[in-house]
Amino acid sequence: RPSSAAVFCSLRPHYIPNHIPDPNYVRIFDTTLRDGEQSPGATMTTKEKLDIARQLARLGVDIIEAGFPASSDADFEAVQLIAREFSSADSGLVPVICGLARCNKRDIERSWEAVKHASKPRIHTFIATSQIHMDFKLKMTPGQVVHKATTMVAYARSLGCRDVEFSPEDAGRSDREFLYRILGEVIKAGATTLNIPDTVGYTLPSEFGQLIADIKANTPGIENVIISTHCQNDLGLSTANTIAGAYSGARQVEVTINGIGERAGNASLEEVVMAIKCRGEQALDGLYTGINTQHIIMASKMVEEYSGLRIQPHKAIVGANAFAHESGIHQDGMLKHKNTYEIISPEDIGLLRSNESGIVLGKLSGRHALKAKMLELGYDIDGKELDDLFSRFKAVAGNKKNISDDDLVALVSDEVFQP
Ligand code: KIV
Repeated sequence: RPSSAAVFCSLRPHYIPNHIPDPNYVRIFDTTLRDGEQSPGATMTTKEKLDIARQLARLGVDIIEAGFPASSDADFEAVQLIAREFSSADSGLVPVICGLARCNKRDIERSWEAVKHASKPRIHTFIATSQIHMDFKLKMTPGQVVHKATTMVAYARSLGCRDVEFSPEDAGRSDREFLYRILGEVIKAGATTLNIPDTVGYTLPSEFGQLIADIKANTPGIENVIISTHCQNDLGLSTANTIAGAYSGARQVEVTINGIGERAGNASLEEVVMAIKCRGEQALDGLYTGINTQHIIMASKMVEEYSGLRIQPHKAIVGANAFAHESGIHQDGMLKHKNTYEIISPEDIGLLRSNESGIVLGKLSGRHALKAKMLELGYDIDGKELDDLFSRFKAVAGNKKNISDDDLVALVSDEVFQP
């Protein structure tokens, strides 16, 4: 299996937008700076966006969607700055820099103006294809939508952009035959990646997987382009849908750090990447990504701080409790072998945990856990002394949510303890 560096090197210097050297390689397209920033209240400064883009590059993401240049001057400038940051042909493993554009000339021109400085620029253009969007939002017929899509993809190519992504917005609720038609036409017009958005997070994993499989089987010319997923999280299924899409043949997945994005957010990078890393070999026909997972925690913290969107403690992979064990049975298992209750280790995502075992003492903890924790704190306690300490600990834990190390030291020193 080639490393991500080898994959990138084989793509460079003659990067071919729609070619993947290894069929099991899944490209990671990060849209934290575009769809992620669409989360209410998540606006970031240009400097913060540049910091995040650099961290995404450290992670090894394949494509950074840096923004929506036509939406504001500030967004244009941020995308342009990021494109310039990744402009040197000798700058090592640089990601593709992508700008979003609606299917109109002004958006496409603004997007191209902003991204063209990158050594690997991409324009991502979209138009809605579901009946409800065409009737009420666009007020266009399906024929007009196909015409708009094809002329704008061709226009983007005519500006000199070799890498053009097209998205049929609300594909999850669009008519299949219409999707095959419009996707076939945009391929002829020069699209290199076809992204399939479940814009309102409506589909179930089996349906989304089937949608990708059907598009792969029925769209003329599809073998010449990359199929991509873009799953929103309205039903909490975005990661599952993304994985189902990759399993059915998508070789690009659109994700955001911490899953931030419109409404309930997007598929989260860390969940999708770790699911592929953890289960790719056994359950996903050997799929893999080029992400250096050790940089995940830093990226997550940075996005949390800059976006102001706090991570829930039980969030998969990056939540504060993701590697904490409280129940006595689990703590006992962890003390005997870490794999009893951990399928990935915190070190895999770059997290150094403060205590070796991940044990968090609480009212469900048992004697083994208490003994192990006291050992970590430098107290080797056994027999009657441990029995006494355990009953005092239980009394306190019944009333107090978090038992800190200081609390334990106070308990063992027999100090007066106020729950
Ligand atoms: O959710 C969506 O449909 C989008 C597209 C622009 C890809 O964000």
